[in-house]
Amino acid sequence: MIILDGKKLAKKILEDLKTKTEALAKKPSLAVILANDNPSSKIYVSSKEKCALELGYQSLIYKFDNTVTQEKLIALINELNQNSDVNGILVQLPLFNHLNAQQLIEIINPKKDVDGFHPINVGKLNCGLKPYAICCTPKGVIKILDEYKIDLEGKNVIVIGRSNIVGKPLATLLLQRNATVTVAHSKTKNLKEITKTKDIVISAVGIANFVKQDMIKKDAVVIDVGISKQTNTKIMGDVDFENVKNIASHITPVPGGVGPMTIACLMENTYELYLEQNKK
Ligand code: GUN
Repeated sequence: MIILDGKKLAKKILEDLKTKTEALAKKPSLAVILANDNPSSKIYVSSKEKCALELGYQSLIYKFDNTVTQEKLIALINELNQNSDVNGILVQLPLFNHLNAQQLIEIINPKKDVDGFHPINVGKLNCGLKPYAICCTPKGVIKILDEYKIDLEGKNVIVIGRSNIVGKPLATLLLQRNATVTVAHSKTKNLKEITKTKDIVISAVGIANFVKQDMIKKDAVVIDVGISKQTNTKIMGDVDFENVKNIASHITPVPGGVGPMTIACLMENTYELYLEQNKK
């Protein structure tokens, strides 16, 4: 069994970005909007900031309490869209319940949409055109599979989860690699019977130990995108790692698998948007 080491690959990507950034006269700049007091979101945003600063990027964090209005966030995004010093804009999800995330995503200039969530970028991805940015977690999953030379062509792959952030864009990227893709979700019947036939199982559900050993075919590749917190604050993936690792050929750990790749891809997207915006 091979452990797919996302942490190591992310480090390599970040070192490469740091070297490339050192050569730039002006630095890439990432603006992050946090309008939620959920502890996980705060941790994600501070890790993004720390990583951006380590690369020498400019990091702008806009934090709001629950009195913030939709209009105020719209005005901020419009201002960031206009500011030529800002290359990437990210609205950390979820938002406070009274806010409308989709409306905010749609007013981000697609050329600054570092998450790849704007309908223009989603549409480009679905048409096989090059988006300005590709959603970070799906991009990170494909990079891990590529790093370990896991061929996707003709493979039977199941993605468990159909979110706009992970499941749907990941299914699209896998299709582009000529995989045969099944997307399962909370209404899927007989999930175990389906997963058991798959060469690659990717889970993005957010329920600890959701994927059990008896759901996996021998020598399948298992990718765990899930993150959930137990009461003792230990971070758990979707996969029952200790048991599934005995049957899988390759498996991502949590932590140290997909998580670090998401952040590395966010930094890569910021760099790519910077290049696009500064091309002569
Ligand atoms: N919340 C959970 N994952 C993500 C992500 O990739 N981007 C944003 N903006 N919010 C998230």
